[in-house]
Amino acid sequence: MKHTILRKQFLAHVAQTSPSPMLVGVERAEGVFFYTPEGKRYYDLVAGVSVSNVGHSNPAVVAAVQEQAARYMHVMVYGELIESPQVRYAARIAGLLPGGLDSVYFVNSGAEAVEGALKLAKRATGRTELISMRRAYHGSTHGAMSMMGAPEGEEWKNAFRPLLPDTQAITFNDFADLDRITHRTAAVLAEPVQGEAGVRPPVPGYLEALRRRCDEVGAMLIFDEIQTGMGRTGAMFAMQRYGVVPDIVCLAKAFGGGMPLGAFVAPHAIMETLQSDPTLGHITTFGGHPVCCAAGLAALEYLLEHHVVEEVEAKGALYEELLRDHPAVREIRRSGLLLAVELGSSERLYRIMERFKEIGILSDWFLYCDTAFRISPPLIITEPEIRESAALIRQALDEFGE
Ligand SMILES: Cc1ncc(COP(=O)(O)O)c(C=O)c1O
Repeated sequence: MKHTILRKQFLAHVAQTSPSPMLVGVERAEGVFFYTPEGKRYYDLVAGVSVSNVGHSNPAVVAAVQEQAARYMHVMVYGELIESPQVRYAARIAGLLPGGLDSVYFVNSGAEAVEGALKLAKRATGRTELISMRRAYHGSTHGAMSMMGAPEGEEWKNAFRPLLPDTQAITFNDFADLDRITHRTAAVLAEPVQGEAGVRPPVPGYLEALRRRCDEVGAMLIFDEIQTGMGRTGAMFAMQRYGVVPDIVCLAKAFGGGMPLGAFVAPHAIMETLQSDPTLGHITTFGGHPVCCAAGLAALEYLLEHHVVEEVEAKGALYEELLRDHPAVREIRRSGLLLAVELGSSERLYRIMERFKEIGILSDWFLYCDTAFRISPPLIITEPEIRESAALIRQALDEFGE
């Protein structure tokens, strides 16, 4: 009864993003599972879209949140007062990031991190052209949406024009397209591994060539590590797998340990350009909220102390091994524990999603790829949990035969 009322109120008063929401209630979540009010258990193979890397209700994160909430929450807009959770987290992240990426601008979300990075690149180069990749997703605000690329991103962008001028998209992994980056270009924004395109890792040498071209013409390279950062691909940051360092990196999702937090990070000398002429070049009330920073720092320490990231590649490989020989699976694209299981048909995918819902698997498709389902569980998933969830997936796939 209680759930029926909640469901009605959800549909009436919580704004929806699609005409067919999942409508599954959440009572509590722990580790790789969440539970409905009726006590049904779901394997969370989405992890809040690569957010809950250290698992739901991770005790270390919960304790950090409780402690900081009791000490102080919001005090003053970002960037004025010395608040230890921000300072400690910024110093820790700067110590882990390569190549002089040492100044952390905390914001509220992934989209805002992208907005800040684009503004910073325009400010630092004095140029206006912004280049993104086809099938990129960087967020839903006007600026971030402008970077969704064409023609695929037009489906979303068209309804909201005018968007940012002076933008264009090149094709990820296309070496010849790099010539379109010129002396006019302020920045190129790229995910080191494309996520919403349906998990597309870079081909050998591509990110290096992209870095070289940006250097040749004096354009800034911005990496969006919002989905790939914090261990998802088997390194703390995907850039480390390819040995390519950007001028600016955007972080969010798992960066907040389950709380809303983002950042754009750049060398101090570049970041300084936002301080003057005009002052307050980017400002935010809640960016770097002390409770969110405490949660993010606790999650990061957990990843490091428990050597979670070191095990990600083997865990991803195990999923691949357990699923790839199923006759319904056309292909598996993967980077660490970010997997796209390709079924080759959207009709099949919609049916499998329904089946997953019944048997207690939460998965999702990708913004630009509705023929593959996602496996991006909390990184702390254990081997028995991988085996059990893969067996459930196979059971669902069996119903479709070849
Ligand atoms: C690569 C990437 N960038 C940016 C974003 C936007 O982040 P947010 O939803 O926090 O604005 C997302 C969200 O899915 C993402 O996957």
